[in-house]
Amino acid sequence: MSDKFWEMVSEAARDEAEAVEFYRRMANAAPCRALNHSIEEIRRDEMDHQAFFESLLCCREELGRSDCRDRGAERIVHGRPLRIPEVHEPYPPIRVECPNPEYARLLLDDYAGMVSEMTAINQYLFHHYDMPEEFAEVTELLEGVAIVEMHHMEILAELIKLLGQPPMYMDGQGRFWDASYVSYLPGHPCEQLQSDIDAEQAAIQTYRQHIELIDDRYIRAILARIIKDEELHLRLFAQAFQRHCRC
Ligand SMILES: [Fe+2]
Ligand SMILES: [Fe+2]
Repeated sequence: MSDKFWEMVSEAARDEAEAVEFYRRMANAAPCRALNHSIEEIRRDEMDHQAFFESLLCCREELGRSDCRDRGAERIVHGRPLRIPEVHEPYPPIRVECPNPEYARLLLDDYAGMVSEMTAINQYLFHHYDMPEEFAEVTELLEGVAIVEMHHMEILAELIKLLGQPPMYMDGQGRFWDASYVSYLPGHPCEQLQSDIDAEQAAIQTYRQHIELIDDRYIRAILARIIKDEELHLRLFAQAFQRHCRC
């Protein structure tokens, strides 16, 4: 294919990324929940388009690995290669302004509630175990993302402790984490990937709500940084879905 075409693909990917960011700001500024919801729907479509163009670029044989660097550097773990997707930005220091049981309850929901890091880790690992051979790239991606979610869980555990609560595997209402929170879908890799996309979208939405509810600048900064990881996961899952489930 011509250079002109690939220039256009790059331009399309950039334009879509800008549109995604624009619709995110527009959704946040929406005067009511219904409008916010509709604009979020449009934003998700744009993310789909962005993922498609980025996946084209990443799959282009002539491109170096650096163009796919969000997928993470390859490391050797337990004798086999593992790629951990990374946002190239450090995490803010883990601290809180002062202990606060109400904020601890909100973070317990993110930690081990129904939509939580604990659920994400177990769901991605189960999908990692269950994916068929022809989804090897997705299998590896799921493991790498699960490891990042473990890091999020550790950060939340530290924060919950600083806020004055033990980080037990329960939500803010004291309900223990339950393995039924996982969307298993055995033998259905595309449905599994779709449910992983849904999980990332739900996590982003919940973290944004909690940023609104938590008046502590340190916690807000940490949750905002975690959201950047979740947005990367969402993009990588969406790209994988484009490659494996839409062809
Ligand atoms: Fe996470
Ligand atoms: Fe995530």
